[in-house]
Amino acid sequence: MKKDITKAGKAQLARTQKPSLDFGSAWEYAPSPESTDHVKLQAQYGLFIGGKWKAPKSKKYFATISPSTEQKLAEVADAGAADVDDAVKAARSAYDTYWKKMPGKERAKYIFRIARALQEKAREFAIVETMDGGKPIKESRDLDVPLAAAHFFYHGGWADKLDLAFHGRKVRPLGVAGQIIPWNFPLLMAAWKIAPALAGGNTVVLKPAETTPLSSLMLAQIIEEAELPPGVVNIVTGAGQTGAALASHKDVNKVAFTGSTEIGKLIQRNLAGSGKKLTLELGGKAANIVFADASIDQAVEGIINGIYFNQGHVCCAGSRLLVEESVHDLVVKKLRDRLSTLRVGDPLDKNTDVGAINSREQWERINELVAAGEAEGGERYTAPCKLPSKGFFIAPTFFTGVSMSSRIAREEIFGPVLSIMTFRTAEEAIEKANNTMYGLSAGVWTDKGAKIFWMAQRLKAGVIWGNTFNKFDPSSPFGGYKESGFGREGGRQGLSAYVEVL
Ligand code: NAI
Ligand code: MG
Repeated sequence: MKKDITKAGKAQLARTQKPSLDFGSAWEYAPSPESTDHVKLQAQYGLFIGGKWKAPKSKKYFATISPSTEQKLAEVADAGAADVDDAVKAARSAYDTYWKKMPGKERAKYIFRIARALQEKAREFAIVETMDGGKPIKESRDLDVPLAAAHFFYHGGWADKLDLAFHGRKVRPLGVAGQIIPWNFPLLMAAWKIAPALAGGNTVVLKPAETTPLSSLMLAQIIEEAELPPGVVNIVTGAGQTGAALASHKDVNKVAFTGSTEIGKLIQRNLAGSGKKLTLELGGKAANIVFADASIDQAVEGIINGIYFNQGHVCCAGSRLLVEESVHDLVVKKLRDRLSTLRVGDPLDKNTDVGAINSREQWERINELVAAGEAEGGERYTAPCKLPSKGFFIAPTFFTGVSMSSRIAREEIFGPVLSIMTFRTAEEAIEKANNTMYGLSAGVWTDKGAKIFWMAQRLKAGVIWGNTFNKFDPSSPFGGYKESGFGREGGRQGLSAYVEVL
């Protein structure tokens, strides 16, 4: 009988007879790379201004690379102040000529058209997002692109119902919106910004982050194909100086910024007294709180999703784990086991869980904080995985024995690095969770629904997830407290940032 067993059967038997957690062999997958053959990137991209592609007056271009291969993908224009000025003028003229006069139901048609085009080109968008930014293809394919389309659909629905959105009060658009977005969810952030602006009757100048401009430029191509009136959406590429020129432009009526707290504060200072409307979505240091009565395996999945998802490049990442003391060792053991099953590497591989860090600068910043965590006495565990020889990769890491005052407990790491602390009572969990300058999100894991509500009333965070983490929906407002910024994106609350309620 034993003789007849196949080779695969033997391996299976060996695994079941071996109770040790040898996940390496149990979870081995054959490579499954997404083909990039049909993606046609241009060698060089200009600026999308007034419905046309224009060479920058600055005459300058810069390269965008793939952080997983370090290869150049394309050159994009580096817009100077004169280019930003042209874009704002185009947006102003489109606002006065077409957009503010157009009935909501007509504007909606254009917004829905963008949404449908995004769905039609979803695969191409997902691949480019992954190539340019380093996030795993399964995330860009299953989260970023569908959710970006959902935001256009959702806000398209509001465009002809604005008078019903705010308790029957009439609304008026603001004018030209200057929007600056980061590199962690490039297309999704463009959608979060552009969709409510257009629905509210505003025109837009958007600046993507310098390391991830390609999906915004593809979005500009879709907008061109959707035949939006010229100048309703303008896309200018560049780095901080381009962003600064846009935020401080005198003819911009509303500034929306997502990025670092440092730049957010700078923009707020510069805008003080200008009368411009401002929303800021900045950093975070979310507490993911696990009570002993939680379903521990479910919580461990939530912790993994909370911090290793998108390499921890998430402002609402669950980067501080607060775990009830009695289950600390169990949770840590399970986390350690689960970490060893995460596949780190080629973001274009459909099996990859953790992709590339977005840029060399970010890679250095994360490594510096990991070193600080060790120097300050935290005990580090890093998953024993083989990292690719090229590109910017960091193996999933967590720290135990972290003190509340250490840098890794206080500063935003924005990488796949978790700081674990303990608590004994719900009051202590609240005190520790709120002991931060940020207040963007939090998670609570418990068997008791009433405890979730009790916690949610006391946690100072804009978004609180109960027995789940990192879930988003266009109808659900997202935004922060304290140094995580102000204003909301999504839902009616998000829409209200783009209209004046009369
Ligand atoms: P950053 O704040 O410099 O970049 C975000 C965007 O702002 C980019 O488009 C950038 O070109 C633009 N920008 C830079 N300087 C500007 C200025 N003076 N005026 C107007 N726009 C300007 O963030 P960076 O350096 O890429 O990342 C630093 C840290 O910020 C990260 O380690 C992370 O902790 C945090 N961050 C938070 C994000 C969030 O989603 N809340 C997103 C990106 C970064
Ligand atoms: Mg890039």
